[in-house]
Amino acid sequence: MLSVELGDTREMGFYDNQVVPRLTDLVMSRRELTPIRARVAASLNGEVLEVGFGSGLNVPHYPPAVTQVRAVDPATIGRKLAASRVAASSVPVQYVDLDGQALSVESASIDHVLTTWTLCSIPDVGRALSEIRRVLRRGGSFHFAEHGRSPDRKVADWQDRLTPIQRRVAGGCRLNRPIDQLVRNSGLKVIQLDNYYAKGPRPFGYMFEGVATKA
Ligand SMILES: C[S@@+](CC[C@H](N)C(=O)[O-])C[C@H]1O[C@@H](n2cnc3c(N)ncnc32)[C@H](O)[C@@H]1O
Repeated sequence: MLSVELGDTREMGFYDNQVVPRLTDLVMSRRELTPIRARVAASLNGEVLEVGFGSGLNVPHYPPAVTQVRAVDPATIGRKLAASRVAASSVPVQYVDLDGQALSVESASIDHVLTTWTLCSIPDVGRALSEIRRVLRRGGSFHFAEHGRSPDRKVADWQDRLTPIQRRVAGGCRLNRPIDQLVRNSGLKVIQLDNYYAKGPRPFGYMFEGVATKA
């Protein structure tokens, strides 16, 4: 069985590698998330890197102008769950790495990076965002739809309370990361950002949907 050390106290074992990806595939297939996926992928083209590829739920939304997607995810069972989506797409998908914190991809070789509901789960998210910036070509852009810390005090307090249990049961997911701040801290320039609550309990659904560029 694959076991991946992800750089914090959490090592991927049977639950994280087999159970969580299947549950995630079910939960993340919710119909109300489809328009978000469609929007965030709409302007992708050329060479794309998707970090946190999961079960390939974004694959049906890759525009035909995308020449190739390089996929990164530690949970390799996702490749099996993604197989029918990948087979139905005209966009080739190549599985390149297991960990967004340490990419083997060449610097400045990627037109766009895509993440959806992934930055919550990566242990050292600052390192992953530096890697995203490194692999983007100058003028390239990072497209994201991520959940994170709410500006509403009561909701944020609940996010802080719920994060320890959420991390345990949901593959390391933190509810309280300030996504926009983290993206800016990486040196990328946020040029578009929409914040809103997705359908469902507020602590789980405060969204950061946007685009950041490498100047
Ligand atoms: C909530 S799921 C979202 C999956 C997919 N992006 C989607 O929108 O359905 C979070 C994903 O992040 C992946 N992940 C966790 N740690 C990671 C890391 N260090 N590098 C890349 N992906 C990671 C998980 O395996 C999982 O597939």
